[in-house]
Amino acid sequence: MPVSRRQFLTYLGVGVPVAFAGGGASGGPAAFPAPRRRGEPPAFFKPIEPSSRDELVLPAGFRADVVVRWGDALGSKAPDGTAELFGFNNDFVAYFPIDALTGGANAAEGLLWVNHEYPNPVFVSGYSEADAKAGRKKLVEQIVKEKLSVGGSVIHVKRGEGGWKPVAGSKYNRRLTAAYPEVALTGPAGVLGPANGTLANCSGGVTPWHTALSCEENYPDYNAAGPYGYRWTDVPGMGIDEKKYGWVVEVDPFGELPPVKHTALGRFKHENAAVRVGPKGRLVVYMGDDEADQHLYKFVSENPVKAGASRAEKRKVLESGTLYAADLANGKWVPLRYTPENAKKFKESRAFAAAAEAEKKAGGTLAIESQADVLTFARFAARALGATPLDRCEDCEVHPLDGSLYVALTNSVGHGNLHGHILRLVEDRDDPEGESFRYEVFLAGGPQSGLSCPDNLAFDRAGNLWVVCDISSNKLGTGAYKPFANNGVFVVPTAGDSAGDAFQFASGPVECEVTGPCFTPDESTLFLSVQHPGEESKSLTELTSHWPDGGDTAPRPAVVAITGFRQ
Ligand code: FEO
Ligand code: CA
Ligand code: CA
Repeated sequence: MPVSRRQFLTYLGVGVPVAFAGGGASGGPAAFPAPRRRGEPPAFFKPIEPSSRDELVLPAGFRADVVVRWGDALGSKAPDGTAELFGFNNDFVAYFPIDALTGGANAAEGLLWVNHEYPNPVFVSGYSEADAKAGRKKLVEQIVKEKLSVGGSVIHVKRGEGGWKPVAGSKYNRRLTAAYPEVALTGPAGVLGPANGTLANCSGGVTPWHTALSCEENYPDYNAAGPYGYRWTDVPGMGIDEKKYGWVVEVDPFGELPPVKHTALGRFKHENAAVRVGPKGRLVVYMGDDEADQHLYKFVSENPVKAGASRAEKRKVLESGTLYAADLANGKWVPLRYTPENAKKFKESRAFAAAAEAEKKAGGTLAIESQADVLTFARFAARALGATPLDRCEDCEVHPLDGSLYVALTNSVGHGNLHGHILRLVEDRDDPEGESFRYEVFLAGGPQSGLSCPDNLAFDRAGNLWVVCDISSNKLGTGAYKPFANNGVFVVPTAGDSAGDAFQFASGPVECEVTGPCFTPDESTLFLSVQHPGEESKSLTELTSHWPDGGDTAPRPAVVAITGFRQ
């Protein structure tokens, strides 16, 4: 049946046909009607418009102060006696009240754990695109600088008259890097032996015993050459042993417990770790694998977290349990176990056979012959056993009021899913220790919702979902991404008339990704990572951003504290 233009627009629910017609005349995606907003925004802020300015734009009444930026001295010393500096590309942020170990919730003094995800050689080591094009090898000192720029930082912070500031010389301040410290591997794949530090630390989570779970994501980039490779293998002995990365690292910001990588949680491109305690007291950790057609996982500990046990005892629950991958078609959590029946499926899996062949060509071996192998090559085990391939699983977070799991699938251009979407999973019988669930699409990215490429998620106590976006730097402001301008922060109510409607709270500076949203316990402060401002700068004389210091300065990734929330 022929459909008139007006009927078509009505069907779409656009409701502003004049604006749409005007858009057709100019032909640009920026001429789409304004995002459809059915409900009222939360009362605590007046939403902002998308912005292309080189600044962190906030609603009226809010302010952001830089707490710490790349290159700031922490006042601590590396093993070789040199000063430890805040690393590059800060991502996940966790706030631990300074009195957390004695049950306190201090919202004006605490420890920040901050992930440092990856180095941009233009800024960190001076290895330029021209060097790469000329085929020049990276130098030892360049690789060392890059190794020291990733991992994570512990920073003691305090709120005073002038806002949040690091506590200079605090005994807590320290770095974890890709060069140090030595990090033991626990659990079934612990036989691999310890790793040199940690790298590719993207998002993460927090345990009930006040440690951070820091997730190693794009570990294959470090040995690799090519446009996204850091080419650490340019110098013999400087590359990484890849099997020792791609895990979840547990770090104690208070320094009582040594850092460890928990192999029971599997190895893949770990985005994050969202923690929930089940009805039998077992620890449940939900985790995404951020690559096109990879999976969503959960770990369920074998043993419950015992109240009254020491922190050292409690952390042991992460050493044994069941790793599951999500089969959305059947609403099942598929256990990834090495059994004779599964071993046959692994061998017969096409994805696994192709990966094994590629590994063989690269001079390595890929075989699944034990539970340690299942965990080390978790994504192949998951696929072979029927897990659903997803459109790049970034963060997932547990709703504080109803326990459901919100999962950000950021995009998959190859699937025509340019703007991503957010799923909501509900465990059957509200039991996260169980093996079945149902799901729905909570929010679809695109001009109609006002946001694109959801990445990190956080909840406030009212149950609003905070979504930060990561449209790739080289796509920002172009084509289908034009309406969104710079990457921003959105607040999405999960109940009431506005449920599922996105309201923009912040817009980041040029070419940044806003990451790591984290509230103090009283929600008086929101810490936020501004990662990779000016990422497309070709050299130090061709800078595309000068955030945060302005003028002619080079951009610096930084953690900011946003205040102005009514108490
Ligand atoms: Fe590092 Fe998937 O974001
Ligand atoms: Ca991310
Ligand atoms: Ca991302």
